[in-house]
Amino acid sequence: MASSIFNAPCTAPSVKGKNYDGLKPAVHGNLRFNAAKKPSIEGCPKRVFIVRASEKKDGAVKKLGLSDAECEAAVAAGNVPEAPPVRPKPAAPAGTPVVPSLPLSRRPRRNRKSPAFRASFQETSISPANFVYPLFIHEGEEDTPIGAMPGCYRLGWRHGLVEEVAKARDVGVNSIVLFPKVPDALKTSTGDEAYNDNGLVPRAIRLLKDKYPDLVIYTDVALDPYSSDGHDGIVREDGVIMNDETVFQLCKQAVSQARAGADVVSPSDMMDGRVGAIREALDGEGFQHVSIMSYTAKYASSFYGPFREALDSNPRFGDKKTYQMNPANYREALVEAYADESEGADILLVKPGLPYLDIIRLLRDKSPLPIAAYQVSGEYSMIKAGGALKMIDEERVMMESLTCLRRAGADVILTYFALQAARCLCGEKR
Ligand code: PBG
Repeated sequence: MASSIFNAPCTAPSVKGKNYDGLKPAVHGNLRFNAAKKPSIEGCPKRVFIVRASEKKDGAVKKLGLSDAECEAAVAAGNVPEAPPVRPKPAAPAGTPVVPSLPLSRRPRRNRKSPAFRASFQETSISPANFVYPLFIHEGEEDTPIGAMPGCYRLGWRHGLVEEVAKARDVGVNSIVLFPKVPDALKTSTGDEAYNDNGLVPRAIRLLKDKYPDLVIYTDVALDPYSSDGHDGIVREDGVIMNDETVFQLCKQAVSQARAGADVVSPSDMMDGRVGAIREALDGEGFQHVSIMSYTAKYASSFYGPFREALDSNPRFGDKKTYQMNPANYREALVEAYADESEGADILLVKPGLPYLDIIRLLRDKSPLPIAAYQVSGEYSMIKAGGALKMIDEERVMMESLTCLRRAGADVILTYFALQAARCLCGEKR
């Protein structure tokens, strides 16, 4: 049952043998491996079976019914039972140069010589419990494919959304984040629909919490899906994004989401002081238990293109460079991190993911808080496109990119691949 799996990675990986931690199956030979997909495992020489008369069918040696003492006495008397000879050194191809061995005290390849060795020394692991699955919702009854994000849909909040959540929970993904496609008629310059208690997001939260009380629901706090200007904040006549007035709206939005049952509110707007203000607003309304995941280092990135198509939330003019960070900046991430920490953030997020691994590592090293990474729409779509064009192996590149985000220091990863990757980790293909 879907509801029986939560906060726990499915146990299947070790059974079905597809382990993407090292991007190769972790077990082989007379252990189990997924023979259907890749019959010959890299680095695993064909086994030579020496069949002897005393062997049973399964290769085990027949017992003669001897006691330990009799076995020891036999060996002491020089009557040593036979064991196979040491396996011969495999031959090199003709023409291989004969050279003296290099006098190396350290040969790092020794620790990589077989799947079992590599599995033993693997430093980073990944599980469905590390994923947060971003889901697009709309008022429609049908699911509408998103052209720029193959495999992603604007889900009907009453049908498609609930089904997608059930599928995710089946493979151990029990955290989602919601992004609404808001009807144009409800968009205003002050984004007031953002805190309508009966708006799309609060309705969807209530429905999901009714069906799956233990589902972890993250929400996005920003005005862009609700703004007629397509900006994350209120735009003044001269084009300036107004900070403190926007924060006032964001507090109302966060409280409205908390009231509906959100577990984690995630300000992605990059206004100054919003984490502290939201914390105070939540506490003031009795939502001390609701967490804040702050988009701490959110860069003004061109990798968000497909997402803005998905939500039809492109800024109507200008760009987001006066609030989102300059992609050229590293130290500035610390200014944001220290502010968010002191204002009470529970989780610090870096966005985008793969092009910003250095920022993930920076925050991991400088902060004791959990770190989240957002593998954004452009990163997702590039892997999908490369796979569709057969330029790369989509599944392997997907798992490698997620593993690398973990290696850089991300505890959780927001990724559109959450369901697909969790199914791989569970050894399932559907
Ligand atoms: C907006 C928001 C954006 C994303 C998440 N929240 C877009 C933006 O800042 O323009 C992007 C996610 C993605 O590209 O996958 N508050």
